[in-house]
Amino acid sequence: MADQSVLVETVVNNGICSINESRSINQPTVNQEDMADCEEIDIICIEELTKEGINVSDIQKLKSAGIYTVRAVQMTTRRNMCKIKGLSEAKVEKIKEIANSLMGDGFITASDYADMRALVIRITTGSKEFDKLLGGGIQSMSITEAFGEFRTGKTQLAHTLCVTSQLPIEMGGGNGKAAYIDTEGTFRPDRIQAIAERFNLDSNVVLDNIIYARAHNSEQQMDLLIQVVSKFAEEPGTYKLLVIDSIIAQFRTDYSGRGELSERQQKLNIMLARLSRMSEEFNIAIQSDPGAGLTFVPDPKKPVGGNVIAHASTTRLSLRKGRGGQRIVKIYDSPDMPESEAVYEISVGGVTDCSE
Ligand SMILES: Nc1ncnc2c1ncn2[C@@H]1O[C@H](COP(=O)(O)OP(=O)(O)OP(=O)(O)O)[C@@H](O)[C@H]1O
Ligand SMILES: [Mg+2]
Repeated sequence: MADQSVLVETVVNNGICSINESRSINQPTVNQEDMADCEEIDIICIEELTKEGINVSDIQKLKSAGIYTVRAVQMTTRRNMCKIKGLSEAKVEKIKEIANSLMGDGFITASDYADMRALVIRITTGSKEFDKLLGGGIQSMSITEAFGEFRTGKTQLAHTLCVTSQLPIEMGGGNGKAAYIDTEGTFRPDRIQAIAERFNLDSNVVLDNIIYARAHNSEQQMDLLIQVVSKFAEEPGTYKLLVIDSIIAQFRTDYSGRGELSERQQKLNIMLARLSRMSEEFNIAIQSDPGAGLTFVPDPKKPVGGNVIAHASTTRLSLRKGRGGQRIVKIYDSPDMPESEAVYEISVGGVTDCSE
């Protein structure tokens, strides 16, 4: 166990990287040929703008602000783009124009939108009952928030998804890689190994397909999001899951004074807007765990982060303990699923259906 945490810590020093970089086996579970067969959303890298006359140094400026794709240009307001050091209003206008001409801008038919929604993937939680509740698993192009008391399985669910996101699509996976931002220091590679074994996957390969970073404060958490976007853009269509466990803990510590609440909500809001954008930009599923620290939450059964998280996350799951080792998940808020409950358990192999 001691070795485990050292491994994690050394990796952390250089930001995001594969948790298993030292290993020689590097054959990905993700079959690149299969991936080419998969229909994917259009991801046009920001470098394309150079062909339209935008110079490399301006591309670099956009990247420093976390804008790595043409779609991200469309999703960022002119006002925010003008805040990027060295970008004039005229330049921003030109970049916007090019982005719209490349990606199309404005109305599409509902059937075209339906085609786009058809690209949404659902990643299995490891429990059939849990999946049924979600309409098949956690969705890409959206944020799923799991909240609840300590030991209800938020972190275990995150670990399970890191493995199942690598399964082939027909097995309820995403046939992709996963990224994990850990703010609480609770990520455990040995748990990933055990879960991989349950799904008959080579645990070394599974570990290689997860990039991991530890965020020690809210600022670093934000910086890591920009880094993760660059990773996603480097290998378009490869990553299918981003986990942030927990999304709010560092914000609570960094903005703990009463007078700092509005600043905290504002910062959190920016981060959630970025996450929401990323989920659509790269067709990835985002699982966030707002944490269940009791300091600021009078009722741990209620989601934390107030309305800020409520607006940004599409699906909110409330987890609680049931009889014995059972855990109960309830849909607290969802755009397309009814409010109902499912029972699951946490096993050596991760989240699973109840044994009885
Ligand atoms: N190897 C394992 N086998 C079976 N159960 C396990 C295993 N590892 C952890 N668990 C169970 O998972 C539960 C802890 O879940 P988890 O850490 O996901 O909770 P959490 O909701 O993230 O809590 P917190 O709010 O403290 O972060 C414990 O009840 C523990 O018994
Ligand atoms: Mg946890």
